[in-house]
Amino acid sequence: MTTYRTHHCNQLSAKHVGETVTLSGWVHSRRDHGGVVFIDLRDREGLTQVVFNPEISEEAAARAHHLKSEYVIRVSGYVKQRLEGTTNLRLATGEIEISAQEVTILNASETPPFPIDEQIANEDLRMQFRYLDLRRRDMLDNLKMRHRIVKTVRDYMDSQGFLEIETPILSKSTPEGARDFLVPSRLAAGKFYALPQAPQQYKQLLMVSGVERYFQIAKCFRDEDLRADRQPEFTQVDVEASFVNQDEIIAWMEGLLFDIFKAAKGISIPLPFPRLTYADAMNRYGSDKPDTRFGMELTDLGESFKSSEFKVFKSAIESGGVLKAINAKQFACITTGQIEELTQMAKQYGAKGLAFIKVENGEWKSPIVKFFSEAEKKALVEKLKIEEGDLILFGADKWEIVCEVLGRIRLRVAEIQKLANDPDKLNFLWVVDFPLLAYSPEESKWNAVHHPFTRPKTEDLPLLEKGEYGTVRAIAYDVVLNGVEIGGGSIRIHESDLQAKMFSVLGVTQEQQQTLFGHILKAFRFGAPPHGGIALGLDRLVMLICKATSIRDVMAFPKNNRGQDLLTSSPSEVELRQLRELHIQVKS
Ligand code: AMO
Ligand code: AMP
Repeated sequence: MTTYRTHHCNQLSAKHVGETVTLSGWVHSRRDHGGVVFIDLRDREGLTQVVFNPEISEEAAARAHHLKSEYVIRVSGYVKQRLEGTTNLRLATGEIEISAQEVTILNASETPPFPIDEQIANEDLRMQFRYLDLRRRDMLDNLKMRHRIVKTVRDYMDSQGFLEIETPILSKSTPEGARDFLVPSRLAAGKFYALPQAPQQYKQLLMVSGVERYFQIAKCFRDEDLRADRQPEFTQVDVEASFVNQDEIIAWMEGLLFDIFKAAKGISIPLPFPRLTYADAMNRYGSDKPDTRFGMELTDLGESFKSSEFKVFKSAIESGGVLKAINAKQFACITTGQIEELTQMAKQYGAKGLAFIKVENGEWKSPIVKFFSEAEKKALVEKLKIEEGDLILFGADKWEIVCEVLGRIRLRVAEIQKLANDPDKLNFLWVVDFPLLAYSPEESKWNAVHHPFTRPKTEDLPLLEKGEYGTVRAIAYDVVLNGVEIGGGSIRIHESDLQAKMFSVLGVTQEQQQTLFGHILKAFRFGAPPHGGIALGLDRLVMLICKATSIRDVMAFPKNNRGQDLLTSSPSEVELRQLRELHIQVKS
């Protein structure tokens, strides 16, 4: 292969016995058996055992005594069958070993801060020494998988006629709903670039340009609170196309995900994915990204309890709210402490309480049952399929609160009962017909649910005209895998007058429209084609495919959950001279 190696460390097997080979890599482990030294040599591909026997080469064996963990060496020798009883079936190279005739120490290493072959709990330490952390097998495997997936994306999009086009990183703020990262301009004092939250406006402008089919493996930047599946800097598979409708974009993305899972895991995922409307997703799962690997659906009980003796339920329904319940089954698996935790969770998300019933020895144990009529009890049994041992949890409040609270409780109960633990289950689905607008009581204004370029459904346009903003649906769609939103997109507004109308509903003044969006409104006046698109969250997708628990594990150099890069210590202070050049003064 190269002067440093004839093979990699995962390549040699019994069929190579007798060949003379050269390997290079790191000393993974070393065992000194008094005279004879055994080394596991590691490279990107795997491990190979090397034996230094003074009877074969005294010089090599003498040098082997000085080797330590993570030294970089080149070894030459011949491939030998391992002695009977010493083969290692867990290793691809476990049948053979290299009998060393020559060894060169290419570089020494300090003792690493953690062993390379162990799971390290201290993530800060891993991040500080990320280059060593990435030497670990599972991290290298994640990086390889990410490469394979990106390669598949490029091949597939190319096969469908999409052009990969780069858009600026120093750009103008796009209103995707998060806070922008700003970059001060040296040449224009007091002015700022924004790092793109997504290439949304540029890709739409490319449609006006007549590109027709665009994609990009795009870096996006959002200054938001971080979680396991959120980073300030992340990657999207960003897509936009002209002269297409929602079904066509959905079909492309299903085709892409099919190829990705084929290439990554060798499986054929079933197509098409089921579709749920936003209203159904919320009503049945209390989430706009439902995890359907288990049931425990939210059941509406409003009809049966509208004239109930139990005031909490009745008054919620009477004042325009809803009553819903989930059957969490097996209360025996849920401790009293956990029920308390669920109740606290319900309150945290706005509920006034969490009424429940335990069914034990044929009896309904709950302080609220005494208020229920026979008809109400019968309705509960029928609708919730109540059996011995069940735990029923209720929510009575405004629709949004009940959905959110029971949706979260459903997920927590599933976690407690380990209902979503089958590692091979892949539940894809589309959520469609999102609302176009949502009212923010804090800001006393309407906001776009997706973004301001999203198109209202044609049949709902009269509702927009009438000012019934809350009921207007958008041509917007999200793709969900196992309860994680892995992508979202929409058909866009391509007419400047409809776009201006949308901005005015969002409370963007004429003047702001011109300063913030003048370029796109103007572009739409020059024959913008109908268009739409989507973006997949690449990091989230790779995370799910790699069965990682955080997107940090599928990114080479992520930030920690305080937004810091502990390896380079960024963000960091800069020199006064730099600030001066940027016309910036930092307040202490
Ligand atoms: P959206 O904001 O829904 O849409 O983003 C698309 C997908 O990107 C992923 N994602 C993230 N991944 C990691 N860290 C983050 N902070 C983060 N934020 C989002 C999610 C999400 O589904 N321009 C539109 C797309 C379009 O309309 O075409 C957009 O960015 O998986
Ligand atoms: P109370 O009559 O307020 O003592 O409530 C009786 C039970 O109903 C308690 O278990 C409360 O947690 C529960 N509860 C109260 N308000 C609600 C509500 N809005 N939705 C669901 N359960 C509630």
